[in-house]
Amino acid sequence: METKLLSNSTADLQEAAHLLKEGNVVGIPTETVYGLAADARNPEAVRQIFAAKGRPADNPLIVHIAKLKELESVAVSVPELALKLAEKFWPGPLTMILPKHPSIPTITSGGLDTVGVRMPSHLVARKLIELSGVPIAAPSANISGYPSPTTAQHVMRDMHGKIAAVVDGGDCCVGVESTVIALEGEDSVRILRPGYVTKEMLETVVPHVTLDKAILHQLQEGQTVRSPGMKYQHYSPHAHVTLIEGRWPEFAAWVQQHAEAGTYALVFDGEGADLSVPYLTYGAGDAEQAHQVFAKLRELDDIGAKRVFVRAPNPNGIGLAVYNRLIRAAGFEVIQV
Ligand code: TXA
Ligand code: MG
Repeated sequence: METKLLSNSTADLQEAAHLLKEGNVVGIPTETVYGLAADARNPEAVRQIFAAKGRPADNPLIVHIAKLKELESVAVSVPELALKLAEKFWPGPLTMILPKHPSIPTITSGGLDTVGVRMPSHLVARKLIELSGVPIAAPSANISGYPSPTTAQHVMRDMHGKIAAVVDGGDCCVGVESTVIALEGEDSVRILRPGYVTKEMLETVVPHVTLDKAILHQLQEGQTVRSPGMKYQHYSPHAHVTLIEGRWPEFAAWVQQHAEAGTYALVFDGEGADLSVPYLTYGAGDAEQAHQVFAKLRELDDIGAKRVFVRAPNPNGIGLAVYNRLIRAAGFEVIQV
């Protein structure tokens, strides 16, 4: 299959919306990462998403809507708290797990009776939902297990020949996937996957916000997880990644000692000049690091890195999302220096 690269012109968006409506898979920009989109209500279209990504069938997809009114056609018994959260954080990078509407097939929800729903803030994503007239199921548009794509070129790399088209909407501004939450009663939510919407932001609306233990810890054999995506090896480039926690002097000394041919470091902006190994930087503050982390992991593969020592981000605020992605990219290989 020839994968068309479409622009965000009106004519191209109409073409992409038509493809979606007809049951095809299209790579689309969102404010978080690029998504692999298809009609959430069409089981055959959704099956093609799983096939293109090589995604396990029990890992559910997020359903994207453009207007609040559409929520009632994808979820049932929506609690008051969900509406309060929607009012504050939608459109934006927050996904809520809600009881599934019967019109959403179980292939979309990975066999669960719940559905993850979000309203993206990216104008192109919303326009495509409106023009196609269907709710859009979209996981991140990477090959399963690889870092998420934040540019149309990343999607082309992973999906060329496997999907109908990719819409180029530029660089994703957030850079890490949405915050995924489960609602637990009227005054409490649990964060299943950290993202740009932090615990502190949620606490301005909900009295009790807890972090699921799978965010920072590896599942032990036999343990179940609330968000199936958390159990898979994830976000990993081909290079072997190790996350290093500690202060700069100890980090630099450790890298110096353990570097071999093909070793690179991934450090913060402004660091690295005194390292003896080649390095890339991924920003200074947490929002910048979120914006750059996936692109830098991909770039390390492109330049032939075999081994990467990553300077661990501060796991607070948006930094928790970056830390969560990096420990998975490292297969939980974390070293304290
Ligand atoms: O920002 C995002 O969320 C991006 C863009 C494209 O919207 N999408 C995304 O989808 O990251 P994906 O499939 O890569 O990650 C969805 C995560 C997975 O960890 C999945 O297990 C979890 O959300 N999830 C989806 N539906 C769920 C459900 N019903 N119950 C529990 N977890 C769910
Ligand atoms: Mg993903």
